[in-house]
Amino acid sequence: MKALSWHGKRDVRVDTVPDPAIQEPNDAIIRITSTGICGSDLHLYELMGPFMGDGDVLGHEPMGVVEEVGPAITNLRLGDRVVVPFQIACGHCYMCQNGLPTQCETTQVREQGMGAALFGYTKLYGEVPGGQAEYLRVPEAQFGPIKVPDGYPDDRFVYLSDVLPTAWQAVEYADVPPGGTLVVLGLGPIGDMSTRVAMQRGAGRVIGVDLVPERLARAARNGVEVLDLREHKNLAETIRGLTDGRGPDSVIDAVGMEAHGDGFGQLAQQMTGLLPDAVAAKLMERAGVDRLAALHLAIDIVRRGGTISLIGVYGGMLDPLPMLTLFDKQVQLRMGQANVRRWVDDIMPLLTGDDDPLGVETFATHRLPLDQGPQGYEMFQKKKDGAVKILLQP
Ligand SMILES: NC(=O)c1ccc[n+]([C@@H]2O[C@H](COP(=O)([O-])OP(=O)(O)OC[C@H]3O[C@@H](n4cnc5c(N)ncnc54)[C@H](O)[C@@H]3O)[C@@H](O)[C@H]2O)c1
Ligand SMILES: [Zn+2]
Ligand SMILES: [Zn+2]
Repeated sequence: MKALSWHGKRDVRVDTVPDPAIQEPNDAIIRITSTGICGSDLHLYELMGPFMGDGDVLGHEPMGVVEEVGPAITNLRLGDRVVVPFQIACGHCYMCQNGLPTQCETTQVREQGMGAALFGYTKLYGEVPGGQAEYLRVPEAQFGPIKVPDGYPDDRFVYLSDVLPTAWQAVEYADVPPGGTLVVLGLGPIGDMSTRVAMQRGAGRVIGVDLVPERLARAARNGVEVLDLREHKNLAETIRGLTDGRGPDSVIDAVGMEAHGDGFGQLAQQMTGLLPDAVAAKLMERAGVDRLAALHLAIDIVRRGGTISLIGVYGGMLDPLPMLTLFDKQVQLRMGQANVRRWVDDIMPLLTGDDDPLGVETFATHRLPLDQGPQGYEMFQKKKDGAVKILLQP
C-alpha cells in the first residue's frame, strides 16, 4: 500500500510499504477514506526527530471502512463505516472505565514512562504505524473505532478522531462559568474548533488570538472577537482592558511547544536539532526545550482565580514556570491529550442533524490525494494558501 512516512526533519515521503495484516485476535483492518494532517504532526515534522524512526508511517486522524477483523472482534462488521480515535485504548481497564483512555493501562508505553499508545506518534508513544495511508491496522478494535452512519460526507465525522474531542476537552477543562469570558490562544484547527465549541456551549464571550491573517479572519466570521498578536505589544494588558481590568475567566492554550515569539526556546530547539539523536532525545526528555511564549501569555492573561486549559502539546521536563505568579493568582491548570471516546456521545448529536452547528462540512480548507501529502505538510506548516485544515484522501 501507499503510506506517508517520516524520513527526517521536514522530509515526509509517499512510500510503498507492506499492507497491514491482522496480528492479534482483537485487531481490525480499516481502508482509509479520509485522514487529517494535525498540528501535532508538525511537531514530528520539525522537532521530534530524536524520537522518530526512519520510515515511521504518520497520521492519527483517520476514518474509513472495516475491511477485516480478528476472531475476537464482535462489535464491527465488514463494511462498517468508522472513525478511529488517535489513541489506542482497551475500554475495560481502570483508566478506560474512568474516562481516561489516554492513560489506558493495557496500552501504556511503560518502557518510556508514557501513557496510552498513539497512532503514528514517535517511540515515546509506541511507534505504532499511523493512518496517513491506504490501510490501517487498529489494535484493541473492540473499543476504539466509532461507528458512524452513511448518508453524510466524511467531513461530518472525520474530526471525531481528534479535533472535535480535543476542542471539547479543551473547553470542558477551561471551566468557563455560564456567560463567562474565554480567551483562546492559537486559531489553528484546534483553537478554531475550541472557539466554536465554547460558543455552542454557552460561553458569554470568546476572544481569539493568532498572528495569521486568514486564521483571524476565519474566526472573526464565526463571531469570535479576534486580536492579532503582532499588533499588541502587551497583549495581556490589552485583554485586561477589554475585560474590566480583570482578565478573562478562562484561557485555552491551543498553541503548544512551537509558539511564535520565544527566542530562548527556539534556540534550545535549534540546538537539539544539531545533536546526535540519542543525545538530543536525552536532552529533550530531561531539559526544558519548549517555546513557552503562549503558556506565559496564558498565565499573564487569565484573571485571578481563573482556569488555564492547556491543549497544545508540551514536551520538556524542566521547563521553567513562574510559580510565584501561578500560586499568587490562584490559577487552576488542567491539561493532557484528549480522551477521545469520553466525549464522543456528547459531540455526536451536533454532527447528525440537518444543520451543522460546528461547521464541520466547511472546516477543511484543502483536500488532497495521499500522493500530495508531502506538499500538504509543507503548506500546513508554512500556512500557505490559507491552509488551516488539510484532509488527505487515499
Ligand atoms: N491535547 C491533544 O489531545 C491535542 C490534539 C491535537 C492537537 N494538539 C496540539 O494542539 C496544538 C494546536 O494544534 P493545531 O492543529 O491547531 O496546530 P497549528 O500549528 O495549526 O496551530 C497553532 C496556531 O498557533 C498560532 N500561534 C503560534 N504562536 C502563537 C502565540 N504566541 N500566540 C497565539 N497564537 C500563536 C499559530 O499561528 C497557529 O495558527 C498543537 O500543539 C498540537 O500538537 C493537542
Ligand atoms: Zn491530531
Ligand atoms: Zn484501557
